[in-house]
Amino acid sequence: MERIVMYNVDNQKEAVNWKDVQWQYVTAVERRVLVLGSGGREHALAWKIAQSDRVSKVYIAPGNAGTMSVGENIAINIADFQAVKDVVLKNNINLVVVGPEQPLVDGIVDFFKNDDDLKDVKIIGPEKNGAQLEGSKAFAKRFMERYGIPTARCLTVTADNLTEGLHYLETLEAPYVLKADGLAAGKGVLIVNDIKEAKTELKEMLSGKFGAASAKVVIEQFLKGIEVSMFVLTDGEHYVILPEAKDYKRIGDGDTGLNTGGMGAVSPVPFVTPDFVKKVENRIIKPTIEGLKNEKIDYKGFIFLGLMNCGGDPYVIEYNVRMGDPETEGVMTRIDSDFADLLDKCAVGRLNEARFEINPETSVTVMLVSGGYPESYKKGMRISGLDNVCPCCIVAHAGTKLVDNDIVTSGGRVMAVTAHGKTIAEAREKAYHNAKMIVFEGKNYRHDIGLDLMNL
Ligand code: AMP
Ligand code: GLY
Repeated sequence: MERIVMYNVDNQKEAVNWKDVQWQYVTAVERRVLVLGSGGREHALAWKIAQSDRVSKVYIAPGNAGTMSVGENIAINIADFQAVKDVVLKNNINLVVVGPEQPLVDGIVDFFKNDDDLKDVKIIGPEKNGAQLEGSKAFAKRFMERYGIPTARCLTVTADNLTEGLHYLETLEAPYVLKADGLAAGKGVLIVNDIKEAKTELKEMLSGKFGAASAKVVIEQFLKGIEVSMFVLTDGEHYVILPEAKDYKRIGDGDTGLNTGGMGAVSPVPFVTPDFVKKVENRIIKPTIEGLKNEKIDYKGFIFLGLMNCGGDPYVIEYNVRMGDPETEGVMTRIDSDFADLLDKCAVGRLNEARFEINPETSVTVMLVSGGYPESYKKGMRISGLDNVCPCCIVAHAGTKLVDNDIVTSGGRVMAVTAHGKTIAEAREKAYHNAKMIVFEGKNYRHDIGLDLMNL
C-alpha cells in the first residue's frame, strides 16, 4: 500500500520523488463525466471536475440550478439504475461519480460491474459490500474491531438481546449514545443524558422508531473530544488523503439547537497536525484499506472518516462511503491538481500515477439555509443578489431550482458560500461579506463558522 503525493498540514510540501510518480499526460482521451446527486457536494464535485482540460463535458443527474452553470442537468431519479444506464449509454459517459450514499448502499456499482454494456464505464464508489461501512453501523463496528481500529466501545442489540443491552447501558457512563444500524437520513443517532431515558429510547428504537433502520441498535461509549472529517480516496491499493475539514452540525451559533446536515466548514483544521495525520494514517487508514483487501472488498472510492480527536488520539465515530456535505464545498476549492484525472486513475487502480496537489490557503464555507430548517420551512423563495458575489468566492448550490428564469429555494440547505484566505479570519471575512449579498426570504446561517478554531 502506498500513499501518493501530498502536502502536510503546515503546507510544506513533503519530499516527493517525482521519478516515482509515473505521470502521463494523456491528452488524447476525451472524458465525459456524470455526477450523480443534487446537493452542494455534487455542485462542488462537478465544478472541480469541469476544470480539467481533459474533460469535455460534465453531466449532473438530477443536479440543481447551480450545476447548470458547470454542465448539463439530466432529470432522472438516480435510484432507478436502468435510467442511469440509459443516460450513460446515450451520452457516451466514461466516468461516473456517485455523490450520495444511498445508491452505493443499494448496489449501483455492482449494477455497473454486472452489466455487459457498462463494464467499461469507470465508476467511483464502493460495491454494495464495501458500502456497508456506512450502510450498517454494526458492520462498521465489527470491521473496526477485527482490524484493531480505534473506536468507541459498543454492543449491538436486537429484540433478541434487549436485556443484555439494558445491562450494557448500566456499564457505561452518561451520556449514552444509541445508533440505528441502518441509514436513517442522518437522524438515527441519539445522545441521551439520563439512563432511564436511554433505556426507554433503546426499546422504542428496536420497536421501529426509525423504521427498519433501527431493528438493530448500536449502543456506544460516549467519546469526549473535538470532531473532524477526514477524506481518503483509494483504489483499494493506493490512497491519497484529501484536505480535512471541520463541519458545524448544529443549527445555532455556539453549537446550539438541532442537528442539521451541516451549516459550514473550515479547511484545513489547525489541530490536524502532521503528527495527528500520521496517527490517523497508521491506526485508521492503513488498517482500513488492509481490512477491505483482506475481506476481498473491491473499494474504489471515497472513505470519509468521521473522527473524534480525544486528547490528540483519533477515534472513528463513523465511516461514510462518500464525501461530506458541506465539507466537499470547502475541500474541492483547495485541490490544485486535476481532480478528474485523480478519479479516472482511481477507478482503474492506478491512483499512484495521478498527480495530487493541495492549495495551502484556508477555506471557510458558510451554508445559507431556509428559515425553519432543519424543521419545516417554505420552498419557492426567489433568490437574488448572486451577481453581487465576488468572483473570488465559490457559491455551491444545494436546494435550488430554476423556475421561469428565476432561481428559487427548493430545500433546507440552499447554497454554500466558500472563500479562501491566508488565515481563517481572512477567509471568514470574505465568506460572510459575500454570504450577505445573497438574498431570499427567511435566509438563515450560522455566524460563528471557524471562530472556535481561530485561537487554537
Ligand atoms: P454519526 O451519525 O455516527 O456520525 O453520529 C452523529 C453525531 O453524533 C456525530 O457527528 C457526533 O457528533 C455524535 N456522536 C456519534 N457517536 C458518538 C460517540 N460515540 N461519542 C460522542 N459523540 C458521538
Ligand atoms: N457533513 C457531514 C456529512 O456529510 O455526513
